[in-house]
Amino acid sequence: MSAFHREKVLSVRHWTDTLFSFTSTRSSAFRFQNGQFAMIGLEVDGRPLLRAYSMASANHEEELEFFSIKVADGPLTSRLQEIKQGDTILVGRKATGTLIADNLIPGKRLLLLSTGTGLAPFASLIKDPDVYERFETVVLVHGCRQVSELAYGEQLVATLGGDEFFGPLMREKFIYYPTVTREPFRNRGRITDLIASQQLFGDIGLAPLDIETDRIMLCGSPGMLEDLRVIFEARGFLEGNHSDPGHFVIEKAFVER
Ligand code: A2P
Repeated sequence: MSAFHREKVLSVRHWTDTLFSFTSTRSSAFRFQNGQFAMIGLEVDGRPLLRAYSMASANHEEELEFFSIKVADGPLTSRLQEIKQGDTILVGRKATGTLIADNLIPGKRLLLLSTGTGLAPFASLIKDPDVYERFETVVLVHGCRQVSELAYGEQLVATLGGDEFFGPLMREKFIYYPTVTREPFRNRGRITDLIASQQLFGDIGLAPLDIETDRIMLCGSPGMLEDLRVIFEARGFLEGNHSDPGHFVIEKAFVER
């Protein structure tokens, strides 16, 4: 049995010069938990060329969706950004990853903190009804350099808000906080600063960070992850994993090339 499923590309959307998303068919044998990633890619010269990608689609959805950067000289993304409807992609059979609700101690408020394409696993998780059962409030923070880089997330949130099932849930429990660092926008600044100063909580009109109630998932640039880890550990938060649930869990946003 091959290590991959061969899936057909169903749609491709280019959001900026450096960001695109695409959907594909999904083998009924491909199972995953929302928030996980798999190795995906293309066959190049008869060989698989793969990178880790978080599923941006939820596990109840029929199609797979991925959100990617484009790197001009990146071995995979320079090719992947050229894919068209009908092309074949490879999807590894095994999904894995730490950004799953079971790796967190029960809590009341879930903070999903992302930069760039680190949004992808949270796109999956905010489409998971179980997440809204486990938490009273779900806050999605997405930090980017430019306003245009927020577009994928903005559209995702708008679409879910208009959904018959998720719309009411989101109005009751969900808060979206996009923030931009390098041009004017209604929310400005790095996620690290917004958390350390507690400005995030003031802006959304909620209680400050509290280890009793807050559970956190982090996905994005390595620098952001490291700096946030220091901020949370200094406040007593413990990192969770499969064998030991904690107050926060971390995954880097993988595709860099
Ligand atoms: P900044 O513009 O101040 O560098 P990148 O495109 O480099 O991955 O960055 C995506 C977003 O993450 C940008 O808004 C960037 O802010 C922010 N960022 C980068 N490094 C850190 C860090 N160490 N802590 C917090 N935010 C960061």
